[in-house]
Amino acid sequence: MFSSSSWTQLYAATLGANPIEVTASATTWSSSSRETPASIARRACERTEPCCRAPTESASFTSRQVFSSKGPASLAASPIVSEQPARAADAAVERTRKQVRMLDDLYKAAVVLIATRYVSDKSSLPVGAVAITLFDAMKKKGWHEVRLLDATGKPLVAKNSPQDDFEITAVEELKSGKSYYDRVVEREGKRYLRAATPIPVLLEKCTMCHPHYNDAKEGEPVGALSYTLPIE
Ligand code: HEC
Repeated sequence: MFSSSSWTQLYAATLGANPIEVTASATTWSSSSRETPASIARRACERTEPCCRAPTESASFTSRQVFSSKGPASLAASPIVSEQPARAADAAVERTRKQVRMLDDLYKAAVVLIATRYVSDKSSLPVGAVAITLFDAMKKKGWHEVRLLDATGKPLVAKNSPQDDFEITAVEELKSGKSYYDRVVEREGKRYLRAATPIPVLLEKCTMCHPHYNDAKEGEPVGALSYTLPIE
């Protein structure tokens, strides 16, 4: 799921192979009440191998909740009710990890799509800026936080360097070959999953704006995505 080739595989499987179908589902998604995120995810899933089990319609997430402009406040407010607190807590961490996997595939597929179809020369909208704008939009709605990190020691923008102990350790772990790294942290009495996934040099085009990516060792990530999601 987190292999370095998954961006390109996912792109080929879900976007490149049949762009018209994808456009059609995106339209249906926003305009029809019959389609749900779960059914669209299932179709996208069916096109990718060796895919996850698609989420079921009975999941407590409805499309109205997911896309309401108010964000996930109501979900965040609902307490976990269980007779086995320890096991429930573990299940919550697992659910959050699954959310990270889903988001990681989604963001990476979107960035590859943009880089492939819309970036032509150095004056194009920077791919990094697109990703950061997308992350800011999700943060504003209160869903989660994502940071685009440098793993080469030579970021184009200094704030993209790993900042705290989690990010520094995560980048080291990913560079040493791990495909995923996470930690459960607590902030103001609430638990969060911090997770990181690697960004390999995906396309030749990346080196147009990041020439030093040419020096990256085969398979070594040049960057990372650093996620912070509430555990609910
Ligand atoms: C058109 C120029 C351009 C292209 C092509 C491009 N980037 Fe970037 N990238 C940028 C800019 C500009 C930033 C800084 C964005 C910011 O922080 O506002 C950035 C930031 C990044 C960062 C964060 C670290 C840093 O250097 O600040 C990573 C990681 C990254 N890009 C990876 C990639 C990858 C992988 C590709 C190929 C899929 C790619 N970029 C293609 C312009 C580009």
